[in-house]
Amino acid sequence: MNEKPDMRIKIGSLEMKNPVTVASGTFGYGPEYADLVDLDRLGAITVKGICTEPHVGNSTPRTFETSGGMLNAIGLPGPGAQGFIKKYLPFFENYRVPLIVNIWGKTVEDYSRVAEIFNDQARISALEVNVSCPNVKEGGALYGTDVNLFRTVVDAVRIKTQKPLIIKLAPNVADIKVFARAAEECGADAVSIMNSYPAMAIDIETRKTQLANRTGGLSGPAIKPIAIKLVWEAAKVIKIPIIGMGGIYSPEDALEFIIAGASAVAVGTASFTDPSTVVRVIEGMEKWMAARKISSVAELKGTVQA
Ligand SMILES: Cc1cc2nc3c(=O)[nH]c(=O)nc-3n(C[C@H](O)[C@H](O)[C@H](O)COP(=O)(O)O)c2cc1C
Repeated sequence: MNEKPDMRIKIGSLEMKNPVTVASGTFGYGPEYADLVDLDRLGAITVKGICTEPHVGNSTPRTFETSGGMLNAIGLPGPGAQGFIKKYLPFFENYRVPLIVNIWGKTVEDYSRVAEIFNDQARISALEVNVSCPNVKEGGALYGTDVNLFRTVVDAVRIKTQKPLIIKLAPNVADIKVFARAAEECGADAVSIMNSYPAMAIDIETRKTQLANRTGGLSGPAIKPIAIKLVWEAAKVIKIPIIGMGGIYSPEDALEFIIAGASAVAVGTASFTDPSTVVRVIEGMEKWMAARKISSVAELKGTVQA
C-alpha cells in the first residue's frame, strides 16, 4: 500500500487539510448538503454570496442547461450578513470544517461593511470577495473588470478584516495577470479563478432569451479549458495561492488545475448533478498521487511543462 500524500495547504492563516472546497453558490450555505456529504471531509466549505442586507435575486427563469454546462443569472439572493450569522453560523458549531464566506456589494461601502461585520465572527475562517458576478446590475463584474475600481474594493475590504482574504477574479478581462497582481499588491492572501463566463442563449421559437435576466454566467465543463489557461497565466506572476475552479467534475480535472499552478480547487456545477463529486475528487486525487509516489500536493503544483 502506498503512503497517503500530504494534501494540506495554507491560505494566509487558513489551514486546509486538503485542497478541495466547493464553489460559492453551488453548495448553498452548507446545511443543505449535510445529509448527502460528510462536510468535515472537505478542505473548506465556501458559501453562497452574502451582502449587508437581505437580497431577493433575479426573476425566473434563472438557470438554463446548455451543451457542456449551464447558464445562471440567480442574482445573488441571500439572507444578508446578520441573517447568515443568525440562521446559518450556529449550524457549524458541530463541524470542524473551515468556512469561507463569499461576500459581495453594490457599492464599495457595502463590501467594506460586510467584511467588517464578518471580521468579528470566529467561526468564519476566510472571506472570498466576489468582484466578478456577471448577474447583478450594480457592483459585481464592474469591480472585477476595471483595475482601478478593483483595487478600491480590495483595499476597502483589506482594511476591515484580519481574516485571510481571497479575491474572486472575473474571466472576461484582457489580461488576468493585471488583476492577479493587483490583488496581491493590495494585500490579498489568495485569488480564486474563475467566476462564470458572461453568456446568453435564445429560444428560436419565441425569440426570447432563455434567462429572464437576458444574459447570465456560463459554468460547467465547457469553461474548464478557459479556467486552466487563466490559472496558468496568473500563476506565472503571483506568489499568493490560487484556488482554481471551472468545470471540475473529476479528480483528473482537479489535478489539471493543480498542475497548471493552482494550490487549491473548488467543485461547482458538478455538485448539482452529483453532490458526492467533491468527496470523490478528494479521494481520487489522493489515490492518483499515491500511485505515482507524489508525496504532497505542493510538489505537484505548477509542474506543467509549457
Ligand atoms: C447557480 C450558481 C450560483 C453561483 N453563485 C455564486 C455566488 O454567489 N458567488 C460567487 O462568487 N460565485 C458564484 N457562482 C460561480 C461559481 O462559484 C464558480 O465560480 C463557477 O460556477 C465556475 O465553476 P463551475 O464550472 O465548477 O461551476 C455561481 C455559479 C452557479 C452555477
